[in-house]
Amino acid sequence: MTDQLQQQHGPWINPLRDPNDKRLPRIAGPSGMVIFGVTGDLARKKLLPAIYDLANRGLLPAGFPLVGYGRRDWDQSDFQDYVRKAVEAGARTEFRENVWHRLAEGMHFVTGNFDDDQAFDNLANKLEELDSERGSAGNWAFYLSVPPDFFSDVCHQLQRSGLAQAGPQQWRRVIVEKPFGHNQETATKLNELINSVFEEKSVFRIDHYLGKETVQNILALRFANQLFDPMWNSHYVDHVQITMAEDIGLGGRAGYYDGIGAARDVIQNHLIQLLALVAMEEPIDFTPEQLQAEKIKVLKATRAVEPLAKTTARGQYTSGWQGSEFAKGLREEEGFDPDSTTETYAACTLEINSRRWAGVPFYLRTGKRLGRRVTEIALVFKDAPHQPFPEGSRHAQGQNVVVIRVQPDEGMIMRFGSKVPGSAMEVRDVNMDFSYSEAFTEESPEAYERLILDALLDEASLFPTNEEVELSWQILDPILEFWAENGRPDEYPAGTWGPESADRMLSRFGRAWRRP
Ligand code: BG6
Repeated sequence: MTDQLQQQHGPWINPLRDPNDKRLPRIAGPSGMVIFGVTGDLARKKLLPAIYDLANRGLLPAGFPLVGYGRRDWDQSDFQDYVRKAVEAGARTEFRENVWHRLAEGMHFVTGNFDDDQAFDNLANKLEELDSERGSAGNWAFYLSVPPDFFSDVCHQLQRSGLAQAGPQQWRRVIVEKPFGHNQETATKLNELINSVFEEKSVFRIDHYLGKETVQNILALRFANQLFDPMWNSHYVDHVQITMAEDIGLGGRAGYYDGIGAARDVIQNHLIQLLALVAMEEPIDFTPEQLQAEKIKVLKATRAVEPLAKTTARGQYTSGWQGSEFAKGLREEEGFDPDSTTETYAACTLEINSRRWAGVPFYLRTGKRLGRRVTEIALVFKDAPHQPFPEGSRHAQGQNVVVIRVQPDEGMIMRFGSKVPGSAMEVRDVNMDFSYSEAFTEESPEAYERLILDALLDEASLFPTNEEVELSWQILDPILEFWAENGRPDEYPAGTWGPESADRMLSRFGRAWRRP
């Protein structure tokens, strides 16, 4: 049937879409998706709502089939009920019965373990049926939202059952969630495994930070303007701080997090990707090849600064007051080993050996149960070489800062000294503030909406390649090995800004972390 459709209509070309005109809606062509691990947290909270939001915005093909695969003994209506609850709880856009109805008609569930030959054969039959019933034309994305221990079984089964092989004019893609390994060695093995079944151009590794509007805005800010580039280098920048602070704790996430820790959870991926976007050179264009080439170049030049005992810090939260809520310590959280050495706070100092950045430290930090939720990148500038102001007139002036606020309050701040009104020449810091919500009426889509749509459209710019993943581990591995050999993490009470060792990391150079 699929071949027949292709023969009648040729490969599907979206009539609305001139590939050069990015203003037109980007609508996915005939296709469907299978989610492995559909009963997990990520699918329930993010993937299913994002798929509904895409359907609601008219960006999915009308018959889009969605197949869940898992151990539960569910029929179609059980699966529909489950997805409906997830969508009602998590969707960004309003719930519309007609949209829901159309999407729900294409939902199916296949029961099986990840190593079950028969169940994968059933899956293959189901997809073939759906191709003719729903017009998915043999184009399928397989979303692996499962722990990496199962990647091997799923990939092997996709290959054995023939699901990984596309027929003529069809495509098969695999979307992979982190963690991509535990270190460089395991990441390489994982990549080899995936690449033995899917060629690299069919592999879409999710780093959901790259789907955030504000993260993509780093590219717009740097490369659409003339204002910033001249000062975006070691002549003017003193240091860069990349912060991803969260106020939530880890209750309920022990299974994933214990033994993983903050550095593997978010520095290896989200924060190192932010560093790459902030520090890379201008790509020739924004095609995946060019963008990835620049990111790879800067990652190759990035190293952890030694000695690691002084340039890194890690911590684990203990009980404490977070606002008006009393929070448990990590080791009292359900499911965590009472002797757990897993870090919930990690900070490190990286350097980039390039003409642009030599000598500029990049300080990265992340933590759970910190003072507030904020992700930002701050470029802190050197002092002006000369100040013709009278003694004492600049006591309220710090260094100039450009802050890219990734979330919340998405936007950008420029902080600089200004004259205080009055007869004396007194200088004080002020903020110039650009806020997305004030400047634009459009609401930002969720990162997963953007990334799922891009994967269906075969637009790979926002997906890290295997080389980027392995390079990120190469940067982080020496720090992880050093920590593994050097006792427990320090402690910090919930609701504070991390362990004192993190403050010392900067204060020994006369610097301080921002308190956003
Ligand atoms: C995930 C991490 O990748 O990102 C979580 O595994 C973290 O630990 C989450 O809480 C934060 O995402 P966001 O989009 O809320 O900043």
